[in-house]
Amino acid sequence: MVTIGRNLSYYETLKELLSGDLDFHGKNTNHASHNFHAFAAKFPPQLPAKFIRELTNPGEKVLDPMMGSGTTIVEAYLSGRMGIGFDIDPLSLKIAKVKVTSIDTEEAAYTGQLLIQRAMAAVENKREELDGELRTRWDLKTKEFVDYWFEYETQIELISLVNEIKTIENHDLRNFFEIILSGIVVTKSGGVSLALDLAHTRPHRAKVVFHKVDRVREEDSPVYDVSLQHSAHSIKYIRSALWEFKKKLRQNLDSLPGRYFDTIPARIDVGDAKKLPLNDSSVDLIVTSPPYPSNAIDYMRAHKFSLVWLGYAIDDLSQKRQRYIGSDATRGDLLSLLPTHSENVVRTVTKEDVAKGRSLRRYYTEMSEVLTEMYRVLKPGKAAIVVVGSSKIKGVDSDTGNCLKEIGEIVGFEIPKVGIRRLDRDRRMMPVQYNVDLTSQIQQRMHEEFVLGCYKS
Ligand SMILES: C[S@@+](CC[C@H](N)C(=O)[O-])C[C@H]1O[C@@H](n2cnc3c(N)ncnc32)[C@H](O)[C@@H]1O
Repeated sequence: MVTIGRNLSYYETLKELLSGDLDFHGKNTNHASHNFHAFAAKFPPQLPAKFIRELTNPGEKVLDPMMGSGTTIVEAYLSGRMGIGFDIDPLSLKIAKVKVTSIDTEEAAYTGQLLIQRAMAAVENKREELDGELRTRWDLKTKEFVDYWFEYETQIELISLVNEIKTIENHDLRNFFEIILSGIVVTKSGGVSLALDLAHTRPHRAKVVFHKVDRVREEDSPVYDVSLQHSAHSIKYIRSALWEFKKKLRQNLDSLPGRYFDTIPARIDVGDAKKLPLNDSSVDLIVTSPPYPSNAIDYMRAHKFSLVWLGYAIDDLSQKRQRYIGSDATRGDLLSLLPTHSENVVRTVTKEDVAKGRSLRRYYTEMSEVLTEMYRVLKPGKAAIVVVGSSKIKGVDSDTGNCLKEIGEIVGFEIPKVGIRRLDRDRRMMPVQYNVDLTSQIQQRMHEEFVLGCYKS
């Protein structure tokens, strides 16, 4: 911890941090509970850690109003700060909560073993009951979704796991197992579902399915001459959900955060970043990464694959999806003019595609509301670190870094520097783009993120 203001003012320290390495390539990003569950576009833990350690003291409040999988909150927790996290996504809330809840490893291992044994026994001996549940569990639309995206055998295994998880009385443990279940469904490659890719805006369903030999029931593996009939983009190897659950359980048990000393319980709540339930001038630091513009990563589209198993209905989830920042749903009240540069970018996109232009206008308007709210809750003399990426919309760069800098300054922030972060595409779950010219300038910009240091004087 650098003593703030000893040699450099807080403002100078902020500038210096933004000029340093923000890529963190080659760093281990899986320590503690960070790898509990895949999450699209989560940032490396080293990023919030750097700002938390250098810009706050133990005991102070660190906020992430769009916390996603809770990377900032976990790092605040591990370093003895009070993490405060909000999100509107039900899966995000569950993941983040589990990641900062200390759980007895032995109890979790024992309960998990028992749970798997019982689920396996149910799959073998109570198929009719499980089948009956699959028929009656969901409304028609949700059932159609499940039938389209999950093989029958996978459904039987998942419902048997769901039933066993439901019987766990300890709330924290139940959440821990729900996240494991979700973690075998929501992965970049679509986990145990038939989806080939959940990082893509529109997941595709496998045309040819192979069953891995570790499948509990493996007698029906089809054999196809793949090379003749199908491209690699249509083939999926599906494993048993029971097997995957067992594997993920072992992995998460190994990385349980354990009992750290001097930790402060985190506050994690459902909340809209545009209207935070926090007092004025009450937090010491904000580190956050808002969604990408133009719905480039559609969280709900991926998360519903596991949320249907955790009791949600497709229609409810679609309703929620419209409230996400960056959503393409129309908001009738958005007639306001944006500041000059942002307005120009929106108009350029609108010329290419009216609906996309409207969606980008909504994004910048809502981000203006979010930045205003961040300014309100931040203490004077403190900073908000906002990590954003650009989207390519109909060939136009959304220029998110510059637009949000412009908007942030209008809100009242001083933004001394915008740091650049080069993405490690191999490691980060990002939207997939096929057939792109990697040498083009705009394409290179899509491989960068901008780290805005917003200072409230
Ligand atoms: C890029 S992700 C954050 C990832 C996070 N930094 C991490 O490391 O996991 C953006 C998050 O913003 C959330 N979000 C979208 N609209 C929101 C809103 N109106 N209020 C709060 N959170 C919102 C999404 O659900 C998503 O979890």
